[in-house]
Amino acid sequence: MSHKNHVRGLALAVLVLLFGVPGARAFQLGSRVTEEWIKTLERPERLKAQKVDEVIRRLGLKPGMVVADLGAGSGLFSRPMAKAVAPSGKVYAVDIQQGLLDYIDKRDKEEKIENITSVLGELDDPKIPGNDVELAFFNDVLHHIEHRDAYLKALAKYIGPTGKIALIEMDKNAPHGSHRNQPELLVSREQLDQWMSEAGFQPVKENNDLFPGTKLFIIYGRKSAKK
Ligand SMILES: C[S@@+](CC[C@H](N)C(=O)[O-])C[C@H]1O[C@@H](n2cnc3c(N)ncnc32)[C@H](O)[C@@H]1O
Repeated sequence: MSHKNHVRGLALAVLVLLFGVPGARAFQLGSRVTEEWIKTLERPERLKAQKVDEVIRRLGLKPGMVVADLGAGSGLFSRPMAKAVAPSGKVYAVDIQQGLLDYIDKRDKEEKIENITSVLGELDDPKIPGNDVELAFFNDVLHHIEHRDAYLKALAKYIGPTGKIALIEMDKNAPHGSHRNQPELLVSREQLDQWMSEAGFQPVKENNDLFPGTKLFIIYGRKSAKK
């Protein structure tokens, strides 16, 4: 290769590294391999900080409900949700990594949980097999999704007329949250409300007292739902 071509090749590689391949599909921000995710997600300090029991209580789940856990990871929330909606309700545990869904299926078998359906979603569409979701839930997930507005619009198709979206997410404007040095992973309350509004949802319940100074916990309902 001539020196000129070598320099051109290097320049192209740098551009691709910086800006990605032109026309390439969306990607996951802050991605990890399956084993690393499971280890990270189930660290005892993390489990304690997630306040799972209190979050589940505030979601107001009832037996018979249809719930979607978006970006379910290791199933930390899917399992208690499944118990709360049993015996007739069900949980769609959605993730884009098959390895994590395999782990959820394995835990379900070990713990005899029969009402979780694992769903392999796409980066911009959860691909839930139904349109009757009564509560869609995100914990610590939206910041990993590159096209947050498109994802929420796609999600709206699977939610029933009175269904809701509950979202726990780091607050860009909170003083003590994590990822302060990675602004691309932080979303503000204003951005969230805007994307939700474009997807047809508005805030109906605030739970921001649960994670003071770090995370937002908001429940959104359809703007079209009767009060
Ligand atoms: C920080 S983990 C949170 C897991 C779980 N919600 C919890 O709190 O333990 C983020 C998860 O989101 C998943 N994820 C990232 N992008 C996604 C997308 N576009 N659709 C669905 N899941 C996604 C990742 O694979 C990972 O399992």
